[in-house]
Amino acid sequence: MVGAGISTPSGIPDFRSPGSGLYSNLQQYNIPYPEAIFELEFFFHNPKPFFTLAKELYPGNYRPNATHYFLRLLHDKGLLLRLYTQNIDGLERGEPLFPLHVTSADVMADRVPCCPVCTGIVKPDIVFFGEPLPQRFLLHVVDFPMADLLLILGTSLEVEPFASLSEAVGSSVPRLLINRDLVGPFTWRPRRRDVAQLGDVIHSVERLVELLGWTEEMQDLVQRETGKLDGRDR
Ligand code: APR
Repeated sequence: MVGAGISTPSGIPDFRSPGSGLYSNLQQYNIPYPEAIFELEFFFHNPKPFFTLAKELYPGNYRPNATHYFLRLLHDKGLLLRLYTQNIDGLERGEPLFPLHVTSADVMADRVPCCPVCTGIVKPDIVFFGEPLPQRFLLHVVDFPMADLLLILGTSLEVEPFASLSEAVGSSVPRLLINRDLVGPFTWRPRRRDVAQLGDVIHSVERLVELLGWTEEMQDLVQRETGKLDGRDR
């Protein structure tokens, strides 16, 4: 389970960190309250604040960090049953969310992207507040009871129904929280086998990779993937 805290080392602000979080820096967008920028009703009423923010955070301008590569290593080793992410930066997938050819010119030119056929506003493929979660989210009903370890990285566990997934694993299943601070059930309903590695996510992930004896594999993966990104950006 991951959140915006895994992307701050890539240069993308999270939402709630005091001072640096996005919700502390939206004054320029003239919105009634911070979360409005991600609310479906507000988006269709006034899409401008969202697309102004999207220009600032446009996919392709940021690169994955060690945390994203650690998740990829878990996948490559057949250890990752599923990744549940709240993030819209696409860094876990290494691909942008917007169909770049359709929206980038408009977004970069401070225009609201509209469909060339029906002229409706182009809504990005992210889940807004007030919008149903994608069907695949229901996989959690099968996934979490099957899990024999739950990793939670870089999230405040503030938003439901995502946050409650942290308690959906069996009571004897170890839960490892890697985060700057203790959050959610780790504070008010801790379990016997909980482990919390608090502090910077990169430092914590690199320490975990070292303990697993995967440091060399990780370095090879980062080198390989960074080379591909350098090639793409040329
Ligand atoms: N190292 C460790 N922890 C970090 C780091 C870092 N470099 N950077 C941030 N964090 C921690 C913060 O301390 C915080 O606990 O990551 C967490 C990020 O929490 P939020 O900013 O609330 O982000 P997130 O949990 O992803 O928010 C969930 O809220 O408003 C919605 O749509 C929004 O998807 C978002 C959802």
